Amino acid sequence: MPPSPAPDVPPHGAPETFRHVLSHVPTRVVVVTGVGDDGTKAGMVIGSFTSISLNPQLVGFYPTHTSTSWPPIREAGRFVVNVLAQGQDDVARRFSRTGGDTFEGVEVAAAPHSGAPILRHGIVAWIDCELDREIELGDHFLVVGRVVDLDVVTSDDHPMVFSRGAYPVLGS
Ligand SMILES: Cc1cc2nc3c(=O)[nH]c(=O)nc-3n(C[C@H](O)[C@H](O)[C@H](O)COP(=O)(O)O)c2cc1C
Repeated sequence: MPPSPAPDVPPHGAPETFRHVLSHVPTRVVVVTGVGDDGTKAGMVIGSFTSISLNPQLVGFYPTHTSTSWPPIREAGRFVVNVLAQGQDDVARRFSRTGGDTFEGVEVAAAPHSGAPILRHGIVAWIDCELDREIELGDHFLVVGRVVDLDVVTSDDHPMVFSRGAYPVLGS
């Protein structure tokens, strides 16, 4: 028998229930970046990032239909996944904002293949991708990226995680 629900859980079927329960599943925190056709940089925090396939090497994530950052990256057809390091709460907040120049004051380098921005500070790894396919799923898209290059920047820092609305600090 499943355990009784915690008293603060809203009724089954409500969107808040979905959000509340799923907030108990920790996620990775990456910033997906790209350069639109007009040369403007775009970047968004993504918690739904996952590796998909080793042969061929595929990764994926789920941008929402209403994202304003995803369309220019889709147009470019290539992007970089920046894996944030623990303690980069400010970077996560910056790239979860809609509108404005989210890259203002952020040092970046162009990824070898895609030219998409790799954050110079605060990441543990980056993955350079070509857009392989995009599938509509409910109010999100499933985006599949073909990995063309990737590297670890440091193994000294833990990667960032998001759990229950916060960025908990992982032990060693
Ligand atoms: C921890 C965290 C995880 C997120 N994961 C996703 C995600 O998987 N898909 C998504 O579309 N938005 C996600 N967001 C929200 C976007 O970062 C944010 O709405 C977006 O980048 C800013 O809006 P814009 O895309 O309209 O510029 C997440 C935000 C946070 C803080």
